[in-house]
Parts: sequence; structure tokens; C-alpha cells
Amino acid sequence: MTPEQFIEFARVLPEPLLLVSGEGLLLATNQPVADILGLRRQELWGKMLFELVTESDNDILKYLQACSISRAMVIGSLTLRLNDGQTLICRSQGAVIQPWSPESSALILLRLENRVVASSNFVLLNEKIDELAKEVQRRKQAEEALKKANQELEIRVEERTTALQETLNELQVTQTQLIQAEKMSSLGQMVAGIAHEINNPVSFIYGNLHHAHKYTEDLLKLVQIYQQICPDTPPEIQQQVEEIDLDFLIPDITKLFQSMKVGAERIQEIVKSLRNFSRLDEAEFKQVNIHEGIDSTLMILEHRLQARHEYPEIKVIKKYSQLPNVTCYPGQLNQVFMNIIANAIDALEASVNNLNPQTTDNQKLAENNPQIQIKTELIDEKWIEVTIADNGLGINEQVRSKLFDPFFTTKTVGKGTGLGLYISYQIIVEKHNGQLSCFSVPGKGAEFVIKIPIAILNKS
Ligand SMILES: Nc1ncnc2c1ncn2[C@@H]1O[C@H](COP(=O)(O)OP(=O)(O)O)[C@@H](O)[C@H]1O
Ligand SMILES: [Mg+2]
Repeated sequence: MTPEQFIEFARVLPEPLLLVSGEGLLLATNQPVADILGLRRQELWGKMLFELVTESDNDILKYLQACSISRAMVIGSLTLRLNDGQTLICRSQGAVIQPWSPESSALILLRLENRVVASSNFVLLNEKIDELAKEVQRRKQAEEALKKANQELEIRVEERTTALQETLNELQVTQTQLIQAEKMSSLGQMVAGIAHEINNPVSFIYGNLHHAHKYTEDLLKLVQIYQQICPDTPPEIQQQVEEIDLDFLIPDITKLFQSMKVGAERIQEIVKSLRNFSRLDEAEFKQVNIHEGIDSTLMILEHRLQARHEYPEIKVIKKYSQLPNVTCYPGQLNQVFMNIIANAIDALEASVNNLNPQTTDNQKLAENNPQIQIKTELIDEKWIEVTIADNGLGINEQVRSKLFDPFFTTKTVGKGTGLGLYISYQIIVEKHNGQLSCFSVPGKGAEFVIKIPIAILNKS
């Protein structure tokens, strides 16, 4: 391509184009180049490329050389010196039109591209990408924060629910305890009331029995004297003597009074036990004889210890030691004895029910020999121990771990509330600063050990 052909060709193209020799001589340019530089086209004729740019001669030559030997376009960068003193960075694409030969130098076509526009576009794009990336980052962070907040909220809701559930459980237990305490106290009052009411008439009977016996003896003596002094009794009297069978009546009446006395004494004992058990003073801390408490509890449970239609008698073996009086809440302690002994009776009845249904009562007795052993001991000068053991079904490890939990029961609805041992634990451990523990060999029986201080320990 000659410079003339080039100009013809370049005129129609809108981008700046230059035709240079391999040494950098400007052979031709089109109008856009002159416009960018702020010169007239004629002014460019005969100029060297180095005069129009800020890059060193060396750099320009290297670039042109690269263009003249490459088959592809070579991208470079040229900083144009503008007429107004400013500079303009352009991207240049160089392509060889006529390779170098010994006869003539190479001809190179340079196509310029305004880098400012390109790069400002590029900057804009970069900014956009940057903004976008930041936005994505922000959203990610917001999402993370939201997730975290959600998780925290979930945890808080869970904690709150657990706390509420715990409060509900506590309330339920308190409510049941209140009902139980209320029942016990009204039962106690009723028992004490009945005991009091029975006590008076029994006192009349017991007090007068002695006199009635004495008067009867006196009268009988009178009859005897009369018989001795007047052996010939008139027939009406003799007939009456035979009718009432006087010979039998005289020895029998003494026996009769004796058994009435035993009966009245027994009623008095029961009344005493009832009063002892109900202990309306239960809120009070008192010094009491622990054995009396256990005995009155056994008296109340007597009807469950006796042989009944389907159950053999439960033997109670007491091994009491010499104990000092113990400072405690006696009414509450009796409630503990009651709960533990009643559980033992339940366990013994269950073990009888477990036998072959064909077994007769006597066999049941022989096989089972159900018994409750109650042992008391003075451990040292500060502590006493009460052990209540039965030879019932015993307690397996799974049940044992939940024994003192509120509402834990293995009994049917109506029979068990699951509160007996829970309340007993509270009374022994919380109220008396003592210990309540359970030992069992499954299948052989269970043993409950109550350990309490003789005198009140400082409660923390
Ligand atoms: N002497 C015992 N022998 C076997 N199991 C027992 C004995 N004492 C207590 N248990 C077990 O402990 C559970 C809880 O007893 P408790 O708190 O008194 O509640 P309840 O008697 O109302 O079931 C009983 O259901 C029973 O399974
Ligand atoms: Mg119970």
C-alpha cells in the first residue's frame, strides 16, 4: 500500500490511523489523528513518530520492530503529545502491511484507540463490579447476621420454653405438695378430733370398769354369804339360781371384766397412736422418741399387715436400739415412716401377686414369708439411723435412678401418685438436713435408710 492508497482507504474510516515506516517516519495519517493532536494534517507530514509521543525512541523502535516481524496484530501503548500541551494515552494496534526487505523498509499501519474513554469506561465498569461485589458482600453479611440472630432467637426461645417448662413442673409439684400437705393436715385434724372424741367415752368405760367389777364382786359375795347362812333357799330362789346358772356366772364374770378391760385398754392405745401419728404440733421442732413414731405408724397400718383373704400376714421384725430423743418435726417424720412402710407393703403384695395363681394361701406364706424389718441405730453422738427393709420384688437400676423424682411411679393410676418418696426426700434432706438412700437387690427386696441428726444441725 502506498501512502496515497492508504489515505484513500483511511479517509472513510472514523478511527485514527497512521502509516509509518519501520524506522518511525510518518508516511500518512487520516483526519481523526490530526483532530486528536489538534494539528492540521499537513503539519504532520514528514514528522517522526517519536516527535508526537512521550515514549523514548528506543521503546518506539522496539515496538515497530515487533510489529514488522509479527504476523498478528501487536498491541502497544502510545502517549500522544497534544498541541495544547496535554498528553493522551492511546492503545495502539500495529500491523505490518509490507515487510522489511533489503530494498525498502517495512510499512506499518497503526490504529489508535483513545485509552481515556476506554479506561474511563473500564473504571466505570470496575466501579460497578466493585459496588456489586460490595453489595453481594453486604447481603451476605446481612444474611449471616440474620441467620445468627435467628439461631440466637431459636436458642432463646428454646431456653425460654425450657425455663417455662421447669417453672410449670415446679408449680405442679408445689401444687401437689400443697394439696398433699392440706390433705395430711385435714386428715391429721380429723384423726386428732376423732381420737379426742373417742378418748372421753373410753375413759368413762375404763374408769368405771374397775368399780363395776368391784361392785359385782361385792354383790356376788353377798349372795355367797346369804347361801351359807340360809342353805335352805325357798324354791323360787332356787329356780332362779338354776336359771341364771350361778355356778358358771360367778367365775365367768371375772373373765368378762378382764377382757372388757383389755379391750378398753386397746382402744386407749389406738387413740394414743392416732394422736401421736397425727401430731397437730407438726410444724414444731420437738424432741421425741423415734420408736413411738414408728410404732404408731405401724398401728395405723396394722390392717394392711394382717393376713387377708388373698394375702398372707406380713411379719414386722423390730430391731430397736437404745436411742436418745431426737429433735425433729415429728408429724413429718411419721409421714416418712408411713410412706416407706406403705411402699414396702405394696412391694410385698406385688410379690405375692407375682406367684403362680394356683398357689394356695399357705403355700404363698411358705414361699414368700413376707416381712418388714425395722432397725434403729445410734451411729455416733450426732446421728441416728432407721433402716426399713422388705423382702419384696426389689427395685431395678432403671427404677432406682428415678425413685425420688416427683410423680415417678410404677403403680397403676389411683394406687400410686409418685410423690411418697419425693416428699420423704424433701422432709429428710431439706427439713432435717439428713440423708435418705435406697439399696436393693432386684428380686430379693429393698432397703431404705434414713439418717438424721439427733440435734438440729445448722441449716445453710
Ligand atoms: N420397697 C419398695 N420395693 C419396690 N419398689 C419400691 C419400693 N419403694 C418404692 N418403690 C418404687 O418407687 C416408686 C415410687 O414410690 P413413691 O414415690 O412412694 O410413689 P408411689 O408409691 O405412689 O408409686 C414406686 O412406684 C415403686 O416402683
Ligand atoms: Mg408410695
